[in-house]
Amino acid sequence: MAELAVEPVFAALQRGFDASIERLCALLRIPSVGTDPAFAEDTRRAAAWLVERLKEIGFDASLRPTSGMPMVVAHDPDAPADAPHLLYYGHYDVQPPDPLREWDNPPFEPRIVQGPHGPRVVARGAVDDKGQLMTWLEALAAWKAVHGRLPVRVSVLIEGEEESASENLEPFLLANADELKADVCVISDTGMLGVNEPAITTMLRGILYLELRIQGPVRDLHSGMFGGAVPNPIHMLTRVLAALHDAHGRIALPGFYDRVFALEPEIRAQWRALPFDEKGFLAAAGLSRSIGEEGFTTLERLWARPCCDVNGIWGGYTGEGSKTVIPAKAAAKFSFRLVPDQDPQEVLAQTKAFLSSLIPTEYRWELVPMGMGRPIRVPTTSPFLGAARRALAIAFGKEPALIGCGGSIPVVATIKDRLGMDSLLLGFGLDDDRPHGPNEKFELVCYERGQRAHAALIAEVARLAG
Ligand code: BES
Ligand code: MN
Ligand code: MN
Repeated sequence: MAELAVEPVFAALQRGFDASIERLCALLRIPSVGTDPAFAEDTRRAAAWLVERLKEIGFDASLRPTSGMPMVVAHDPDAPADAPHLLYYGHYDVQPPDPLREWDNPPFEPRIVQGPHGPRVVARGAVDDKGQLMTWLEALAAWKAVHGRLPVRVSVLIEGEEESASENLEPFLLANADELKADVCVISDTGMLGVNEPAITTMLRGILYLELRIQGPVRDLHSGMFGGAVPNPIHMLTRVLAALHDAHGRIALPGFYDRVFALEPEIRAQWRALPFDEKGFLAAAGLSRSIGEEGFTTLERLWARPCCDVNGIWGGYTGEGSKTVIPAKAAAKFSFRLVPDQDPQEVLAQTKAFLSSLIPTEYRWELVPMGMGRPIRVPTTSPFLGAARRALAIAFGKEPALIGCGGSIPVVATIKDRLGMDSLLLGFGLDDDRPHGPNEKFELVCYERGQRAHAALIAEVARLAG
C-alpha cells in the first residue's frame, strides 16, 4: 500500500500542540483514582472522556464493562486491510494523590510550571499514564486529520485498573482475543534516561504484592502482667521481615534465585556505557548512596535483579504518650520485584514455606496476595523494534538506548501469554517525574517529542509492509 508522508503530520502536531495541552489538562482534571471507591464515578468519567475523544478523531470506540472499571476499546474503521496491525495500550486510572499537603497545587488542577527543561504540566497522572497515552492519541489524531486515514491498522485498549494490578484484564483479553489480537502492542508507560536520551524498554520487572497478618494473644494485654511470658506479634513480624534479606543484600527464601536469568555480558557492558546520572537519581530522593545486592551496579539492581521491600507496617500502640501493651495483632504489606524467569505464584509458595518454617505455632498468621504481575523481556531483533528505533531517532535526533525498567506493567506479560503478542515500550518519563508521588509532572518537551515519535512510528511500521 502507498506510504503516507510523516512531515505534514509533524507540522500538524506542532500547530496543534497548544490544543493538545488543553486536551491533556481536561483529562488530568478528572480525578480517576481507580483504587478508591469514592472516586469510582470519576474514574468512569475518564473512560467516557477517552471514548468521546476516540470517536471525535474517527475511531469506532466503546466502553466495555468488566466487574471493575470499564475497558475503553476502539478500532480504526478506515484501516487498510493488509497493513500491519498495532494495538495501543494505556491506563486511565491514577494513584491516590495523598498526602495532599505535599502538593504545591491541587493534584487535579493541572498547572503549567517552568522548570530547567522548559514548561511542564504538574498534576496526578501527568506522566503515569495520562500524559503518556495522550502522546499516541494525539499522533493518531494528527495522522487522520492530515491524511484522512492511517497507513496501518490500529486498535486501542485503555484500562482503568492498572494501578491495582489489572485484575479484570486477563479475563477480558481471553474473552475478546479475536477482537484484540494484533501484530504488536504499543505502550507508553515507562521512562527514558534524560530529555535528550530516548529509550526503548526491553525488560520489565514483575511483582508479587503481599500482606502478612500475625496474631499472638486474642486481645491486647497489659505488658507488665504478661510481658516476657507471652508471644508478641510485632516481634515475630519484625523478625520474619528482617529475615527476608541476608547480609549480602540477597533474598533469603530457599529457591528464590533458581529461575533468575543471568544478564548477558553484552547487555551489562551496554548498560555500563549508558549516560545514567546516578548522583542525580539519588539526589532526587534526597540520598547520596545506594544499597542492594552485592556485585551489581545500581542499574543492574534496578532493572535485572529481584528485590523485596516492606511497603507498610502497623500494630500496637502508636498514639500520643505511652501505653504499656502487648498487641494482639501486627501486620505488614511487602512486595517482591521479580525478573525473568521468576513466577509470582512460585515465589508466593516459597514465601509461605519460609514463613511456616520461621513462625512458631503460638502465633496465628495469614498471608494474603494483593497483586501479581509476571516479569518480561521484549525481543530486540523484531522488525517492529527496528521501526521503533528509527522512529525515536527521527523524533529526538538521536539513537535510542535499550534500557530496563524496575517498575511493573502486568499487561505486557499477559498480552504475550494470552495473545502471543510482543510489546513496544516507548516511554517518555524522566526519573524526577515523581509518578505516584506529590507534584507528579510531565515535561512538555517529552509530550511533544513523544507525539512526534508516535507519528514517526506509524510511518516506519507502514513501511515494514513494503
Ligand atoms: N507506569 C508504571 C510502571 C513504571 C514504574 C514504569 C516506574 C516506569 C517506572 C505503572 O503504572 C505502575 O505503577 N505499575 C505498578 C504495578 C502494580 C500496581 C501492579 C508498579 O510498578 O508498582
Ligand atoms: Mn503506569
Ligand atoms: Mn503507576
